[in-house]
Amino acid sequence: MSAYPDVKTVDAFKQQPQEYQDAVKKIVRSHAVNELYGAQVFDEPAIALAPTPYAKWLTCRVAMEEYHHHLRFKTLADEIGVQAEDLDTRHKRPLSLFAFPLRTWEEFCVIKMLGDLAEILQVEDLLHCSFVPLRNIARTTTMPEEKFHAQFGKDFCAELVQAPARKVAVQDAVNRFYPYAPEFFGAAGSRNNELYRTYRIKQRKNEEMRADYVSRAQAVLQSLGLESPVTAAAA
Ligand SMILES: [Fe+2]
Ligand SMILES: [Fe+2]
Repeated sequence: MSAYPDVKTVDAFKQQPQEYQDAVKKIVRSHAVNELYGAQVFDEPAIALAPTPYAKWLTCRVAMEEYHHHLRFKTLADEIGVQAEDLDTRHKRPLSLFAFPLRTWEEFCVIKMLGDLAEILQVEDLLHCSFVPLRNIARTTTMPEEKFHAQFGKDFCAELVQAPARKVAVQDAVNRFYPYAPEFFGAAGSRNNELYRTYRIKQRKNEEMRADYVSRAQAVLQSLGLESPVTAAAA
């Protein structure tokens, strides 16, 4: 791991090399924007799809937490000088993951089970980040809540697969959503990722994270008796 020293405050951040500042800004911006996209296109619309009052209540909680994640990353982004237009989801091209058309409850449960697992890996990578305010956002609230979201998805999927017709719908959602997930980890051999590791902002290469994700996602699917479609990364 790189020995880049801890950067404890926003003031100390502003004394770092420009390259460090730009790298941190990119990561914070990407989290702020992705949390907002996710909340807008998946979590908030899913409240209407939730089949019972209990499921609606939990989905409201998930949506509230995702908007809160966005706000926490956005507050930090503002403090470190990310431009407002770089945080506006109307101006930024989303990952194709967010173009997945959400229409059913089964799809939403799969998105939480597999999509939030991808987010867990991203947040895990920030737990030892050199920029302490970012590390703190990852450690407090964000990580425990992302774990709750992935577990929420898995628990509801486990319930759904008990009924054969619903299991078919869950498998169908997996087949359509899962191929998008590896893109979340970025390109292999990425120059940005190399910088993130040099400055101890991130720990692992994109391709290492992707391989870890694929094996963890496959283990979850297997535990529910679901098949893993071949992803671009695993192919
Ligand atoms: Fe989140
Ligand atoms: Fe989440």
